[in-house]
Amino acid sequence: MSTNQTPLRDKMLAVMADVNAQVAEREELVELIAIALLTRKNLFLLGAPGQAKSYAINAFRSRITGARQFERLLSKQTDEEQLFGRIDLSSLIPGSVPRDVLEKNPQYQEMCGRLKARLASGQSAGDLPEQIERQRKALGELYGGEPKVNTAGKIPEADICFLDECFKANDGVLNSLLTALNERKYTNEGRTYHIPTISFFAASNEIPNFADPQEKILEALYDRLELKVVTENISDRVKRLAVLRDKQAGSSRQIAASFTLEELKEMQGQVSGIPVPDSVNELADDILCELRKSGIPVSDRKYLNYYPIAQAKAWLSGHAAVESKDLLTLKNYLWQKPGDRAVVESTLNRMCVNPMSDKVNGIRAMAVEAQEEFDAARQDASKPKAGSRALIKLRGELIRLYGMQQDLANAAQSDSERALTDGLLTGLEQINKQAHEAVNFTHVPLEQMAAMQ
Ligand SMILES: Nc1ncnc2c1ncn2[C@@H]1O[C@H](COP(=O)(O)OP(=O)(O)OP(=O)(O)O)[C@@H](O)[C@H]1O
Ligand SMILES: [Mg+2]
Repeated sequence: MSTNQTPLRDKMLAVMADVNAQVAEREELVELIAIALLTRKNLFLLGAPGQAKSYAINAFRSRITGARQFERLLSKQTDEEQLFGRIDLSSLIPGSVPRDVLEKNPQYQEMCGRLKARLASGQSAGDLPEQIERQRKALGELYGGEPKVNTAGKIPEADICFLDECFKANDGVLNSLLTALNERKYTNEGRTYHIPTISFFAASNEIPNFADPQEKILEALYDRLELKVVTENISDRVKRLAVLRDKQAGSSRQIAASFTLEELKEMQGQVSGIPVPDSVNELADDILCELRKSGIPVSDRKYLNYYPIAQAKAWLSGHAAVESKDLLTLKNYLWQKPGDRAVVESTLNRMCVNPMSDKVNGIRAMAVEAQEEFDAARQDASKPKAGSRALIKLRGELIRLYGMQQDLANAAQSDSERALTDGLLTGLEQINKQAHEAVNFTHVPLEQMAAMQ
């Protein structure tokens, strides 16, 4: 449980509201920053200069207390040392002991402390200097001569990283960044360091041209930034003027809400515990198939990792389990090319806001199509027994659609969903009845026909 009484979700919502009060029209971005942190995913921000990308990220970061942060504007000149730390030259001198080994050794520190105290109070040093030297030599035997990398303040010691102009990195830096983003690891001088970073935030004004062989290498970096958001200029005049007045007043905004790194980790635990019902997984699969049908590439890896994002959205919304509407947030996950954003968003809106009505409409459309085929076929005077043949075919299709309707009716979870599936059954039965009458056959209800199968 949280160390104080405020529920963790309220703390996260308070921070989001506080950032939104400072940055205009960035609600979507602010929510995605929260989702990235809650799911340990990386977030890519695409937008023209001056659209508060850095400003919003920094506003959010500054409200997470105790989180070690790393920020860098990348350029071709940025080298690995600037991101991952440089080798501690003193560690290469024979017999030397790396500084951090001495700093972390309690006996050594305790003896140094005693020596300082003695000297400060005018006492003689006694044999303490020899003892200290012996300890240092012993540590040197164990840890000396090993090259050490000083990673203080760099990515290997950062909980949150912000890489501005991320695609400006040179190839060497890019390769190390890829491993860092992908595996949260960094290798230097034969040693591999674990990287504690929760999320990498990366911003850019443009997406490279991946078709260009020179820029192709950047695609791997782009792929590893799972969440993606596009920023725009402030569209609302009133809000724009409010930001301007705020700036002119020169009032520096106080931080009104924050949470700690430990609390963030507890939040992550709550998020991963939110159940994902089968029906939601099935809906996610339907969405995947629909997008692929529309020519939007979604890899299996991407699909198989969708659920933490939906869990985070459900947690933020106060849902006890993931609901179909929570999948709407995948609009910042399922696209690769900005040109695909509109199709992804409209597909999600259509399928997630009322998935039952989408499915019901699909079945109804198939029934109407079968009815039209039946009408055309039964009037075909060139074929003997055209009417009864057409009816047999239609019956087969209606029985299939009836089965689908029954599955939906069994899965209905609310009165409104039940009303939809009931309405569908009435419609199917009506088509069935009209068809029988059209060819002078006695009407057999769908339920009976299905039972006879
Ligand atoms: N939506 C906004 N709300 C409040 N202030 C804003 C907003 N948009 C821009 N500003 C102001 O404009 C400044 C510029 O924003 P910022 O430097 O974050 O842009 P950026 O998107 O990171 O640009 P670049 O791509 O050049 O790095 C901010 O520091 C802030 O003062
Ligand atoms: Mg910036």
